Formats: sequence, structure tokens, C-alpha cells
Amino acid sequence: MARRKKIYEGKAKTLYEGPEPGTIVQYFKDDATAFNAEKHDVIEGKGVLNNILSEFFMLGLGQIGVPTHFLKRLNMREQLVRSCEIIPLEIIVRNYAAGSLCKRLGIDEGTQLPRPIVEYCYKDDALGDPLVTEEHIAAFGWASQQDMDDILSLALRVNDFLSGVMLAVGIRLVDFKIEIGRVYDGDFQRLVVADEISPDSCRLWDIKTGQKLDKDVFRRDLGSLTDAYTEVARRLGVMPNNPPAPGKPQLVN
Ligand code: TMP
Ligand code: ASP
Repeated sequence: MARRKKIYEGKAKTLYEGPEPGTIVQYFKDDATAFNAEKHDVIEGKGVLNNILSEFFMLGLGQIGVPTHFLKRLNMREQLVRSCEIIPLEIIVRNYAAGSLCKRLGIDEGTQLPRPIVEYCYKDDALGDPLVTEEHIAAFGWASQQDMDDILSLALRVNDFLSGVMLAVGIRLVDFKIEIGRVYDGDFQRLVVADEISPDSCRLWDIKTGQKLDKDVFRRDLGSLTDAYTEVARRLGVMPNNPPAPGKPQLVN
């Protein structure tokens, strides 16, 4: 492989300079982390599945007019994306109570929320990505009021799209996290959905059985993460041609 410049190494992805100015190659690693990287493992095939699933969701969003950073998938582990300036916020949308919402407010896991709830966390690993309000965001200048209006609208559109896509294959979208980037076109800036959308960044439950098909399988040691993500990919009809875990039984349609 030709030498290329590494821009950033995160917990689940590495970013390299892309072939054209303004592009970046996102390489999906097999590393899984939880609890701010206190728990770490390498799950063979996870990167392949997330690359393909994120491509699927980003392309679908593009088709309904939600702008994303995605350009094209390059191979099993890499995709070409537009380079953008990531707004230092994790945008979380919740439809059902789970995870930190249950801990914070004492709500039973699985309770349907009266409406989608959008939360913002400040992206800072050293601080454990603390929950922040729009007051903090405005006061510290992380995003303008116009940005926040656009972010809320994008987050809710992503929620409607993902909820529908998952419902169609018998999966409940409990919650998810997205990141938003700024792209500059001359003097203008646009906001786009960036980073990834995958079972690493969503909670997905089988509607009939409640089985977890997302990173909680790893966080809570509930079984094979590859099997869970493979099931999501299989139901969505995007199983990679080269199965991530050779030798494992494969479902044939
Ligand atoms: P939480 O309930 O732990 O706050 O997580 C809410 C959603 O955000 C859930 O779908 C998992 C996702 N998430 C990430 O993508 N990255 C993170 O670092 C955390 C803590 C959660
Ligand atoms: N991604 C976060 C971490 O590695 C936490 C999580 O997803 O639970 O630490």
C-alpha cells in the first residue's frame, strides 16, 4: 500500500489524508472500547461490518436529502469522506430509555419516551464526554444558535430515517449518537452528518425478542458482537461478500 499520511487515530477508526484535497480516508478498525476505553478488545470483522453499515446509512440519508460527509466506500475497511471540521459535540437522540438516561433519571430500561429526546455531550475523552446544555454550547462558542437549529433538525431527520429503516427489518431504534461536521464551500459553511452510523453508535433491539444487536453486547458481555452486527447487516441485505469471520456458519437466503 502506498504510504499516506495519518491524520488521526481514534478508538475505532483511523483517518488518513485522502487522494484529493478536502478528502479523508476513514479506516474502520476491529477495536471495540467501552466506558471511555476502560474496556477494550479486538473483535475480528467488526470494522468490515461497520464500514458497510455506515455506508448503507449514509447513502440512504443522502437519498432523502440529508447531507453527509460520505463520498464512497473504497474497500472492505475504508471509505472516502469529505474532510470537515467536527463540532465538538456528541448528539444523542433517544426514543426509548436506555443506558445513561436510565442511570441519570431512574427510568426503567425500555420505557418509550413521550417524544424523541435530544441530548448534547461535549466531546472530550479526558472529561468522559460530559452532558452539556445549549447554554454551555452557546457560552463556550462550540456552535452558534443557527448551528444548533440545524443540528436539531438534522438529528430528528436522521432519527426518523433510521427508525423507519430499522423498523422495516424488525429492529427497534432505541437511541443513537451522531457527530456533525462543518464543510466550507467558499465563504459558506454547511453542516453534514459525519463520523459513522453503525451498531457501535446506536442501540438496536430486536422488536419481538428484545435481543440487543449493538455495542451493548460488548459493554455488558452478552455474547458475540460479530454475530449481533452480522444479524443487523443480514437483515438490511448488506452482508459483505467476504464474510468477516471465515469458517463461521453463514445464513443463506
Ligand atoms: P448512553 O446511554 O451511554 O449515553 O449512550 C447513548 C447512545 O450514544 C447509545 O446509542 C450509544 C451511543 N454512544 C456512542 O456512540 N459513544 C459513546 O461514547 C457513548 C457513551 C454512547
Ligand atoms: N465509545 C466510548 C469508549 O470507548 C464509550 C462507549 O461507546 O460506550 O469509551
